[in-house]
Amino acid sequence: MQKSTPTPSTTPTNAERRPGPSVAMYRTTRFVDSSGRSHHADPPRSPKSRPGQICVIGGAGYVGLTTALGFAETGRRVVAVDIDEGRVAQLNRGVSPIYERGIEEMLRRNLDTGRLSFAIDPVDAIAQSDTIFIAVGTPASANGRPDLSQVICVSETIARHLRGYTVVAIRSTVPTGTTATVREILGQDHDEGVDFDLVVNPEFLREGNALEDFFYPDRLVFGTSSKFAGEWMRELYRPIISGENRWNEGKQDRELRPTPLIETNLTDAELIKHAANAFLATRVSFINEVAAICERVGADIDQVKAGLSQDPRIGESHLNPGLGFGGPCLEKDLTALVTIAEDAGVDPVVMRAVLDRNERQVVSVLSKVRGLLGPSLHGRPIAILGVAFKAHTNDVRNSLALRIAHALENDGAAVRVYDPMGMPQARNELHQTVFCSDVYEAVKGTQAILVLTEWPEFAELDFRRVRRLVDCPIVIDGRNVLDARALRSNGFQYLGIGRR
Ligand code: UGA
Repeated sequence: MQKSTPTPSTTPTNAERRPGPSVAMYRTTRFVDSSGRSHHADPPRSPKSRPGQICVIGGAGYVGLTTALGFAETGRRVVAVDIDEGRVAQLNRGVSPIYERGIEEMLRRNLDTGRLSFAIDPVDAIAQSDTIFIAVGTPASANGRPDLSQVICVSETIARHLRGYTVVAIRSTVPTGTTATVREILGQDHDEGVDFDLVVNPEFLREGNALEDFFYPDRLVFGTSSKFAGEWMRELYRPIISGENRWNEGKQDRELRPTPLIETNLTDAELIKHAANAFLATRVSFINEVAAICERVGADIDQVKAGLSQDPRIGESHLNPGLGFGGPCLEKDLTALVTIAEDAGVDPVVMRAVLDRNERQVVSVLSKVRGLLGPSLHGRPIAILGVAFKAHTNDVRNSLALRIAHALENDGAAVRVYDPMGMPQARNELHQTVFCSDVYEAVKGTQAILVLTEWPEFAELDFRRVRRLVDCPIVIDGRNVLDARALRSNGFQYLGIGRR
């Protein structure tokens, strides 16, 4: 099927039925380019007036799946392509490989309407779509630079199967300069009459809030050198930008405000994503360092943090002290930005210090355990509550809780773990550990309890019952989620991070 066909052959989608501005109607839109100049948009380059089917490559991964689901939910037809056959089959059955609140309901709803499908073979999906999102992984390679092999491989495939006019939007987190490579690849190997524009559209989705972040983003970034592609992206995101999409009925009362749009060039958009994650990591390392000072001078981080975050210039986000920043993104992206800076001849002194502080945080939690239990952990039963890298996800990639569990096991401790969502994944990483069916089972007979993920249910535990089950009443709260006073009054020795 040629992509210039105005609508897919299936039932028209909500987006197609809904009256609203077409791309052509945006002709008078004023654009601000990267130099800050404002001008009128050019007429569309294609006779087709609005985007049709979307293809998301890497559609079974975290970023790809939430992107595919989000657009399908707004009424678009979406084909999500992934090489992971198991995941594709699972998703087509309505089962999500990742845990996010509301994800399976949304998945099933969109599969049932026929708007969303998952496929392994990219050929038809690319040829029949006029917007292609690249959402494959860019993991760190041995030297800290992002490994772009998946982005390059996917770009080569896209180049071979492009038809008509297509917007290729990079959603993966890529270092500056990547789009030049992708453009070169897309410019080769395709048929006559093929035309494309490249956009960098970084995602700012937080795991555990990914769907909410898709529908109610703080901002949208479209990096492109084509005014037409900028209009195209606005049209795709129109339900999000306008707030007309009402995902999650419970949020009806949330304040509706226009989504800030940053329309800029490709390089700026590439850098924005790395800089955003590096800045969030900087805040985490900063507060962890202040927490360490609190422990030495007898101050309380909760009070200090309250005094900081009331300043609107500082705010609250990423100021919770803990184990440091884990997960698949912050450390990887900060390390990547260090290499980008070095390659550009900038000495990244601040960012290196942020990484250094993060390494010390796990060491500091382990020294608290050894300080309370004594130097030998051999044969000592220890409970770990929480192995997911953060609450509300089952993701254990680069989980600092897992790092701590490994270190304790290397010291001979007998580790017992409970996590509400992350245990299937953690089983692949921890081979000597005892996995328990609930918290009370996990703490039985232990000499210390470590709370390493901020699951709300840990704050609600019956610590009187816990007190009767443990061998020794020691709690190290690596997330500052427990009520220190209540624990102490129940006879526990309690240590948080920077808490009095
Ligand atoms: C992060 C960014 O927040 C997202 O905007 C971005 O889109 C995403 O990476 C990505 O690049 O895909 P995420 O890794 O899901 O999202 O989680 P964060 O909430 O940023 O937390 C990262 C780590 O920092 C976690 O280990 C978390 O426990 C830790 N953290 C976070 C703290 O220790 N304290 C805080 O106050 C906040």
